[in-house]
Amino acid sequence: MNKTIFITGGAGFIGSHVVRLFVTKYPDYKIVNIDALTYAGNLENLRDVEHYSNYYFEKINILDTDALERCFVLHQPDSIIHLAAESHVDRSIVSPLDFVYTNVIGTVNLLNTAKHFWADNFAGKLFYHVSTDEVFGALGDTGFFTEQTKYDPHSPYSASKASSDHFVRAYHDTYELPVIVSNCSNNYGPNHFPEKLIPLSINNCINMKPLPVYGDGLYTRDWLFVKDHARAIDLIFHKGKTGDTYNIGGFNEWKNIDLVKLLCKLVDEKLKRQPGESEKLITFVKDRPGHDRRYAIDATKINKELGWKPSVTFEEGLSQTIDWYLQNTDWLKHVTSGSYQHYYEEQYTKR
Ligand code: NAD
Ligand code: DAU
Repeated sequence: MNKTIFITGGAGFIGSHVVRLFVTKYPDYKIVNIDALTYAGNLENLRDVEHYSNYYFEKINILDTDALERCFVLHQPDSIIHLAAESHVDRSIVSPLDFVYTNVIGTVNLLNTAKHFWADNFAGKLFYHVSTDEVFGALGDTGFFTEQTKYDPHSPYSASKASSDHFVRAYHDTYELPVIVSNCSNNYGPNHFPEKLIPLSINNCINMKPLPVYGDGLYTRDWLFVKDHARAIDLIFHKGKTGDTYNIGGFNEWKNIDLVKLLCKLVDEKLKRQPGESEKLITFVKDRPGHDRRYAIDATKINKELGWKPSVTFEEGLSQTIDWYLQNTDWLKHVTSGSYQHYYEEQYTKR
């Protein structure tokens, strides 16, 4: 089957893994990566697939309606996998409006353009929206987020993602636009921008810099290897039910402090440091405001309906991830030069 798929945010962390999977697995599909190349977008993430004849790149901001319309006319997409977003909670606390623009208005802009271009003839069309477990809020010591859990976002980031999810479902209910939404837990893996906990800790650990742990370090996240998220998106895109929601998670909860200690142990082994040497870098810093205590996804539905489950253990995935960062020092150097230094100082030296 031939398909033309727009993947938005394809130059980012998860988007680049989704683009790579689709471009290499489906040579008959035309894959168009639509990305504004913000600080988080990096075409270096896609060097190994950019020469494929079924891969196209369009530098477009999803807020730019005219550019989007021209792109729809040029490429005639029948499906969209929408990942473009502002994705970092700490940045959303500093600049909430950036999140409203891209995550809310950008998503509605894309929905409108798709609806208009497909001219209400939705047969064979799909708008797949990639979202997050953060929309569900925070859990106590027990329980899980299911597809039925009520939305209760706490950060400007999660509020903007919740809003975009509501708009996507509203376009389904109001205009019958064929949509699917998935809500995934924390991803980790190669190409992760070093503003998030795992890549920031790997980068700092390699460079013997302090490892900042927020608050008491007992906050819990459910970690999933990014390639497993990409596999889940592939399955949902092809076999998911239109109008449905799928939760995706790692069945893999870690308290931040335990995770950082494991990371230190793996780096010590790989760099032949004395056992315990990297752990000395752990530094407790001022907490994130509105910090959600625990996330944990119940991924039973995608497991039962589509047969998906994570393919690697956390230790394997984390070890592969650290190896990737040790082997891709140029990538790390490029993304941590310039504005990253300013960001880091603002976030951490004043904490
Ligand atoms: P990322 O920040 O690494 O990448 C975002 C990409 O979107 C970048 O390439 C950026 O250039 C692009 N972009 C941003 N604003 C844009 C705009 N206005 N127009 C066009 N492109 C724009 O993000 P990520 O971590 O890869 O997350 C991708 C998606 O998955 C997001 O929607 C996020 O909410 C969701 N998600 C992320 C995680 C996670 O753990 N990282 C977990 C669940 C869901
Ligand atoms: O749950 C899915 C979400 O996971 C995605 O939707 C977001 O896009 C993604 O950024 C991620 O959000 P988190 O806020 O959970 O990820 P982050 O890596 O920023 O933080 C993970 C945990 O580590 C969180 O409890 C805060 C803590 N932390 C984070 C940083 C950056 C620290 O203790 N120190 C740090 O320096």
